Amino acid sequence: MSKLKAVFILMLCPVFLWAKQTESIIPQPVELKMKPGLFVIDQNTSVEFDRKHTGLKEAVGFFTKAVAEISACTLPANKKSEKIIALSIADLPTIGNEGYVLDVTPEKINLSANTKNGIVYGLQTLLQFLPAIRTNAALEIPCLSITDYPRFKWRGMHLDVSRHFIGPEVVKQYIDLMAAYKLNTLHWHLVDDTGWRIEIKKYPQLTDIGAWRVDHTDLPWSDRPQAKQGETPGYGGFYTQEQIKDIIAYAAERNITIVPEIEMPGHVASAIAAFPELSCTQKTQLPLTGGNYTNMASNYCAGNDAVFHFIEDVLTEVIDLFPSEYIHIGGDEVNKDAWKHCERCQERMKKENLKDENELQSYFIKRVEKFIVSKNRKMIGWDEILEGGLAPEATVMSWRGEAGGIEAAKMHHDVVMTPGKPCYFDHYQAGPAGEPLAIGGFNTLKMVYDYEPIPHELDSDEAKYVLGAQGNVWTEYITTTAQLEYMVLPRMLALAEVLWTPAGNKDWTSFRIRLKNQFKGFEQKGLNYCPGNYSVHITPQSTNGKLLVDLSTEILDAEVYYTLDGSTPTLESKKYTGPVEIESSVILKASTAENHQIKGYQPAEQKFVMHQAIGQAVNYTNPVSKYYQADGPNSLTDGVRGTENVGKFWHGFSGEDLVATIDLGEMKSIKSIALGCLQKYRDWIFLPGAVSFEVSADGKEFHPVGTIKNPVDRNTEVAQFDFSTSFAEQQVRAVRIVAKSSLCPEGHPGAGKAAWIFSDEVIVK
Ligand code: ACM
Ligand code: ZN
Repeated sequence: MSKLKAVFILMLCPVFLWAKQTESIIPQPVELKMKPGLFVIDQNTSVEFDRKHTGLKEAVGFFTKAVAEISACTLPANKKSEKIIALSIADLPTIGNEGYVLDVTPEKINLSANTKNGIVYGLQTLLQFLPAIRTNAALEIPCLSITDYPRFKWRGMHLDVSRHFIGPEVVKQYIDLMAAYKLNTLHWHLVDDTGWRIEIKKYPQLTDIGAWRVDHTDLPWSDRPQAKQGETPGYGGFYTQEQIKDIIAYAAERNITIVPEIEMPGHVASAIAAFPELSCTQKTQLPLTGGNYTNMASNYCAGNDAVFHFIEDVLTEVIDLFPSEYIHIGGDEVNKDAWKHCERCQERMKKENLKDENELQSYFIKRVEKFIVSKNRKMIGWDEILEGGLAPEATVMSWRGEAGGIEAAKMHHDVVMTPGKPCYFDHYQAGPAGEPLAIGGFNTLKMVYDYEPIPHELDSDEAKYVLGAQGNVWTEYITTTAQLEYMVLPRMLALAEVLWTPAGNKDWTSFRIRLKNQFKGFEQKGLNYCPGNYSVHITPQSTNGKLLVDLSTEILDAEVYYTLDGSTPTLESKKYTGPVEIESSVILKASTAENHQIKGYQPAEQKFVMHQAIGQAVNYTNPVSKYYQADGPNSLTDGVRGTENVGKFWHGFSGEDLVATIDLGEMKSIKSIALGCLQKYRDWIFLPGAVSFEVSADGKEFHPVGTIKNPVDRNTEVAQFDFSTSFAEQQVRAVRIVAKSSLCPEGHPGAGKAAWIFSDEVIVK
């Protein structure tokens, strides 16, 4: 080799290494400076720290064990060595009680923090540079200096172990993953209708009976039959108090506080299975097998004092076990019908002067809060605890969007943000085509990465009440460890960066580059992760009477190919370079290509229709549900047809007729009107019984031009149908469409209750 070439390579190598290694840290530190050189951990390296500090001792134990798992290095403590990793507790004013300062030179690593927690985070940063598994590779840490601390105090992940019981070893693995990315709160959902998972010494029946259900894991959640007399409840499990103590200690070593959720007053069919006298009806039952609640009791009776004594006994044991400042009491989705029909509950309402069942719920929660506060703990609950009046010191977990969190923060209550979009990690992330069956919804990695936990509705004072956010993992549809891994990896890493890194330091491109390194680690460890959302985003925009479509992909360094003739895109199709104009009714199909290969399970697809009402305002007599607003008020006239994805495109109505009036802007000659509707049995969405159409020449007087009855069977799982009427061509200024609301059919879990109407698009020709 020539001398010149050798010098050149020597110069390049470290640069290449720093570039590669700065691409490793998630979440991105507050301040990071790379320096030339490497610190290599080997047999000549020891750890220096004050042994009398028990927190430091614990942190060193955690680190040396992690290093021993990937190498032959044993890292002796306080031994004179060539190379030192020095840990110290200091008094550093700007980094708070979780921050750390790290300085790496070829001879020494200095890590200091105000607390053991900061030291553990610094060590986690070091570990991210090292191999994920045992290899022969050198343990190299690039020279650098970092000052780092979190943006939010509550950096949470939730885990539902009731719908699917998750054994202690997998819970620890979940904790390991959280800890690696500096998350600090595990919200452990230990109680629900389908299983009581925590041993309570005073009430062994809770787990003897309540932890076991008749096994229908082979069927999707909403299709599972209820348990029948004589069947054996063979599926389930629970944690003994000893196991729980062990998991709490394991988590604490990794800076993770476990917040236990002991659900009440609803979602407790499992407790009622053990103690029927806790419900309003007091009838015997088994825990639920899935989502079928027909004739099952799932609430505690709010009129029975014995219920509160029982809850206090349970919470006493829970509080003795869990050192967490917060105790989560659930509070979500209470179906108050049982309370309406219960003499004791109605008596309680009279005695306590409660005007409705919402106030009865509030009475319940306030009474429990008083007990929790008497034990010097704080109560947290889902946002339904706002209904009927919030308990005086409660912290609110906002899941039905951010509205509950905003309301609570404005009342100066602490808040944790977990809005379904994008914090529910039980939703699809890259499909749904090609992904394991999930509960629904669609939260991509990008949506999680873009999440801002402080809503703009809050001023800077109110914003202080937002403690942070959390990713929720409900397990109705997650029945294996591999699937659990897939649902959280990598969305959990995006959330970790949202919660730790200053908003101004976030960078989607940099995150995806760093993520690629994490993926290698996942592969080495055999963790099942979602490689990415290859589905192309199709975003229509109508401007100045033109319909333009943006196509984008979340995949780094990828291209998009598309067709407008319904054919499947290939590398020979048109390559996307800028907005595509839609000029006639077409089907657009688009695919992501990475490394010259079309990727993804199937192309993204969008049908566009051109018609006479495009761009016209839709005037509804009854408002669209706040949950299903599609992409705005004129979604029915934007030329974009709804697909089977219920979360997009469709305007939803529940319990009321859809009555839509559309002014065509001028007299137009028309001869047909159609309304597209969706049926999705599992989601309580049914085609309307009939749709009527009217037209008007002056926008005031309307006359009928047809009524179309629904021809599709009510038991059909999924159907899209255009209710369409044709008539002799006429001059028209406005049209009106009425779709009749209906009830869920016999045999459906919602039989007799209001069905949803989902509609998109009104097509006028
Ligand atoms: C919830 O998702 N029911 C809190
Ligand atoms: Zn009752």
